[in-house]
Amino acid sequence: MADKVLEAVELSKSYRVDDRRITVLDNISMAVEKGEFLVIEGKSGSGKSTLLSLLSGLYKPDSGRILLNDRDITGLSEDQLAPFRNRTIGYVFQSFHLIPSLTALENIMFPAELNHDPAATAKAAELLRRVDLHQRDDNFPHQLSGGEKQRVALCRALVNSPQIVFADEPTGNLDSANGETILQLLMKLRREVATTLVMATHSREISSTADRILRLVDGRIDS
Ligand SMILES: Nc1ncnc2c1ncn2[C@@H]1O[C@H](COP(=O)(O)OP(=O)(O)O)[C@@H](O)[C@H]1O
Ligand SMILES: [Mg+2]
Repeated sequence: MADKVLEAVELSKSYRVDDRRITVLDNISMAVEKGEFLVIEGKSGSGKSTLLSLLSGLYKPDSGRILLNDRDITGLSEDQLAPFRNRTIGYVFQSFHLIPSLTALENIMFPAELNHDPAATAKAAELLRRVDLHQRDDNFPHQLSGGEKQRVALCRALVNSPQIVFADEPTGNLDSANGETILQLLMKLRREVATTLVMATHSREISSTADRILRLVDGRIDS
């Protein structure tokens, strides 16, 4: 068995809606192996985004623990967690989440600068070149198409050479041609930087290329 990079132990999460509590994840345990491409499947509303947010430390579970490289991150404060997350994790969102006031190059550099990386500019420029957007380095997000924005977002997720990349329906807002380009790039860059990839999707085509699939049904992993 390969090394575990991430482990979730008995995770539960519910949301309060008006005076009701909706349980979204119900006592989920799972692990991610180093280097694997894991797909989280499940219909809309099944808790895929919630699970990725918990695994990456963006949200706190109601109960349960998250271990990243055997370190329990569940109890860390946001101040402790933010730099750790920035170094270890890359995140690609369905709706890109680029910073509108920064250029493509600056968006990609941002996590590397937070990390005090003297090579931030060079790394960002190299990534832009690899996704064929080097001539758009000084464009702002509003000057880019959806597919181009997602290419920039991929570069940003990879600039710190994270151990794990989370991608939450990264092709969900793109047409099929742009979606295909993003997937090809993600797979290529992932191989080049040898990172682990955890992706939420309901695309059967994407799932078919995964090393392993976890399916969320009624707040549990259906296996
Ligand atoms: N911040 C929130 N407040 C209340 N309910 C939420 C919140 N975020 C998600 N939910 C609910 O939790 C369930 C799972 O959502 P989500 O994790 O986004 O699922 P998926 O990504 O699989 O579509 C849905 O019923 C959704 O409406
Ligand atoms: Mg979602």
